[in-house]
Amino acid sequence: MAPSPPKISAAETDKNGRPRSNGVFPFSLPRASFARMFSDLKTLSGDALSPLCFGAMQFGGRANEAASRAMFDACRAAGLNFFDTAYGYTDGASETLLGQFAAKDRDKLFIATKVASTGGAGAANMRAQLDISRQRLGMDQVDLLYVHRWDAGTPLVETMQTLARMRDEGLMRHVGLSNFAAWQAMKAADLAQGFGLKVAMLQPMYNLVKRQAEVEILPMAASEGFAVVPYSPLGGGLLTGKYARAAARGRLAEDQMYAERYGLSWMHQTGRELNALAGQLGTHAATLAVTWAARHPAVSAPIISARDATQLMPSLAALDFEMDDRLYDRITALSQTPPPATDRLEEA
Ligand SMILES: NC(=O)c1ccc[n+]([C@@H]2O[C@H](COP(=O)([O-])OP(=O)(O)OC[C@H]3O[C@@H](n4cnc5c(N)ncnc54)[C@H](OP(=O)(O)O)[C@@H]3O)[C@@H](O)[C@H]2O)c1
Repeated sequence: MAPSPPKISAAETDKNGRPRSNGVFPFSLPRASFARMFSDLKTLSGDALSPLCFGAMQFGGRANEAASRAMFDACRAAGLNFFDTAYGYTDGASETLLGQFAAKDRDKLFIATKVASTGGAGAANMRAQLDISRQRLGMDQVDLLYVHRWDAGTPLVETMQTLARMRDEGLMRHVGLSNFAAWQAMKAADLAQGFGLKVAMLQPMYNLVKRQAEVEILPMAASEGFAVVPYSPLGGGLLTGKYARAAARGRLAEDQMYAERYGLSWMHQTGRELNALAGQLGTHAATLAVTWAARHPAVSAPIISARDATQLMPSLAALDFEMDDRLYDRITALSQTPPPATDRLEEA
């Protein structure tokens, strides 16, 4: 039976009796909502998915094999069973290492990979990339396959039909979409339905300084029952506060794409303020940033990541961090709320 929507008390309504929009989303749910969003997604052994996913994008890149293994083991020790990789990461090393680490407990893990970041979302490219991904992972079947990005050059019907066929052939169990706009996801989900396929999961970017998803994607996901597994909860490291130090080492200092993505000065200010707040609370800014992203009612599990196990610990600590509404609001207020999709600012 579908769970009933959360009750909205008078205190949560505005002067016109409408639900207050905290940011953009009109109500908050307890963490127990994780189970609901993932209700039909399970490991092969039947376990529910963990409320954090680990992203293996650094495996074989900034994290060598030993550091990658240490992070995988730390995740398993913390109870994570949900792992994310992609055909395009680290020339295949990410999938190869994840496959090696996952082999022992394969049925107890939920392994998601992605295709079509390059080469387009046509049938031939998606099939060829998934075949290589499965070989690297050492798995006949992946648990979930994402289309890594929208491909304007391929008829969407071809993409969705190919996914349905690959699902029917047993090459993957579920389908997801990453970096799709809301209208693109709705169109894809509609076409998929015609092939008996459900879009199960969305993977947008979402963190305290990248909140565009609140406008359309997260409300859509809540309405349509898509699980949301957002990436970059730390803003690629910005929200750890480390870039307040001159000569800080890390992705934003070493990678031009990330430097540009997080290049606005207010974002760095937010990083500094979050770090200061974490200091006052005796916790780590990464713990606050991951918990904040996880706490959005439409989010099922943020994808955490790091370059080594020491870095990873504050993100894993989000599993046990209690964030009440007041603290959530305080953190939300450190950043800019995106304007509503209707442009009717006076109603936001
Ligand atoms: N679908 C997509 O297009 C897409 C895009 C990006 C990521 N993803 C997925 O999402 C996962 C997570 O994304 P993300 O890596 O961008 O997440 P993130 O949590 O925003 O950033 C992680 C990075 O922050 C830095 N960091 C982490 N903990 C730290 C600490 N305690 N102190 C200082 N720095 C720290 C590390 O980078 P440095 O040490 O280099 O600074 C680390 O690699 C990826 O692994 C991948 O699976 C998907």
